[in-house]
Amino acid sequence: MHHRIPFLLLTALAACTTAQPSVTAPKLAAATLAAPIPAAMPVVTAKAMVVSAHPEATRIGVEILRKGGNAYDAAVAVQFALAVAFPVAGNIGGGGFLLYRGADGQEGALDFRETAPAAAARDMYLDAQGNVIPNLSTLGHLAAGVPGTVAGMWVLHQKLGKLPWKDVVQPAVDLAAQGLKLTEKEAAGLNRTEFISSLTNEMVGGEGDLRYEEVLTSYKLMGRNWTVGETIRLPDLAATLRRIRDQGRTGFYEGVTADLIVAEMQHGKGIITKQDLLNYQPQWRTPLHGRYRGYEVLTFPPPSSGGVALLQMLQMLEPYNLGRSGWHSPQATHWITEAQRRVYADRATYLGDPDFGRVPVPQLLEARYNRQRMATTLPYRATSSNQVTASATLPGYESDQTTHYNVVDTQGNAVSCTTTLNGAYGSKVVVAGAGFLLNNEMDDFSSKPGTPNSYGLVGGAANAIAPGKRMLSSMTPAILTNNRKLALVTGTPGGSTIITSVLQSILNVVDYGMNAQQAVAAPRLHHQWLPDQLDVEEDALLPAAQDTLRARGYVLKPRNAWGRVEVIRVLPDGRLEGGADPRGDDAAAGY
Ligand code: GLY
Repeated sequence: MHHRIPFLLLTALAACTTAQPSVTAPKLAAATLAAPIPAAMPVVTAKAMVVSAHPEATRIGVEILRKGGNAYDAAVAVQFALAVAFPVAGNIGGGGFLLYRGADGQEGALDFRETAPAAAARDMYLDAQGNVIPNLSTLGHLAAGVPGTVAGMWVLHQKLGKLPWKDVVQPAVDLAAQGLKLTEKEAAGLNRTEFISSLTNEMVGGEGDLRYEEVLTSYKLMGRNWTVGETIRLPDLAATLRRIRDQGRTGFYEGVTADLIVAEMQHGKGIITKQDLLNYQPQWRTPLHGRYRGYEVLTFPPPSSGGVALLQMLQMLEPYNLGRSGWHSPQATHWITEAQRRVYADRATYLGDPDFGRVPVPQLLEARYNRQRMATTLPYRATSSNQVTASATLPGYESDQTTHYNVVDTQGNAVSCTTTLNGAYGSKVVVAGAGFLLNNEMDDFSSKPGTPNSYGLVGGAANAIAPGKRMLSSMTPAILTNNRKLALVTGTPGGSTIITSVLQSILNVVDYGMNAQQAVAAPRLHHQWLPDQLDVEEDALLPAAQDTLRARGYVLKPRNAWGRVEVIRVLPDGRLEGGADPRGDDAAAGY
């Protein structure tokens, strides 16, 4: 079937082809400036593996597999365990996307993304002059979308789980009740965060070493900081998880937990109602398929922008010999950056919730379209983002807290799941008496066309706020197969950088022959069209390569580490190789 290329994009293409100055090839061969690939040792197991952002969540996932649970049981257990052990992003008060591929080749994409409450409105974060009110979509009760995680885990388990529901939730209950020791990163994260809650001292269930009056919210101490190695216990969260264990979905969206969420909303002038909670439904979506150098790539459709963008970039890059150019050589970086720039421009214009408007996925995934898009690049010169499509220049971005886990079980079933509160600790709102954090996912909508959100991403009508609508996401769970055999499971947090980090994890393995740990540890690069800059992690580019890229017109921005990529790679002999991102406390384990 022939799809028309949208008019706006043709205009943009024309602008690109005509406006660039012509340049000649530089004297230095690009491959001589390739960066050395750092050594890193993966975890290797015989047949089953879990990789997640926290060793306790990984341990619990592996235990469920050892008990005879399948990858889906383990995924549910890991999701709930992360809500306890990794409150910065793990959650029951947020949402996510779970992609699976069964050993029998069956596949599915479970969308448990948050939705805008019924009382939400397009301009709810704008003042009378039409300007975005700072922090309103990121901090506090109004920033929260209706959580989807518990409903998502419930339908996943009903469809594919093997062990009883209560058995897969119980480990998280135990973890919350017994507590866990804080690592340096965790203690620092909690200590620097101002939490918001209507919790009163009388309501606080201080247990164990902590006296009641010492606990300000579940996550904050009165008058002092957490110390490294100190045990944090979460009795309110344990009680909420018991209700979920015993009543399933109902234990969250109705009864005591729903009452506590709505009471918290009323206290903080939030708008989530009991009806919003009752109405929440996860959606089964049809996964997207693409190909890259002989691999079949399975990934997530809208309301993720990530899958579409990933497949577009892979189409754009396949004609180029990245391997021969060398890892992070100026030439490879040039091609990859130009692909990134173009797909983020498309993202801003066309992507949104497919239940609320037409998203032109087939057109964007047309090979001819993506080849034409790349035909507008110049060999040795950056394209200005303003020429890819007209727009203002934009400021940078802030937090990138989401989390990702992968599971492969002994049968070969694979799960790739990215789940999020959006910002670090979400809206910072702790539901009083229920002990969990609410997301600030409303900021992933476009509050005002052309005005960047906290990731510096811009959007338009396709991603405007509407009641019941899902906000556009960048989460990009992905599974690669080769000749119908499982080959790679990958994904990461990182807000707007998710898509480019997942791309790089694939290129690192497929084009540069890295093992799973090298693929996740390797320093990364990121371009998102606007702002027109190439973010560069430490050691990602040799100094001479940086000079070459600057000479080609790229603005390089050194930036602190981002993303926590998790990878499981299937080795030719069937063993599993795990890569857990060393930027966090992430852990790979199995048997
Ligand atoms: N909240 C980050 C994302 O969904 O892309």
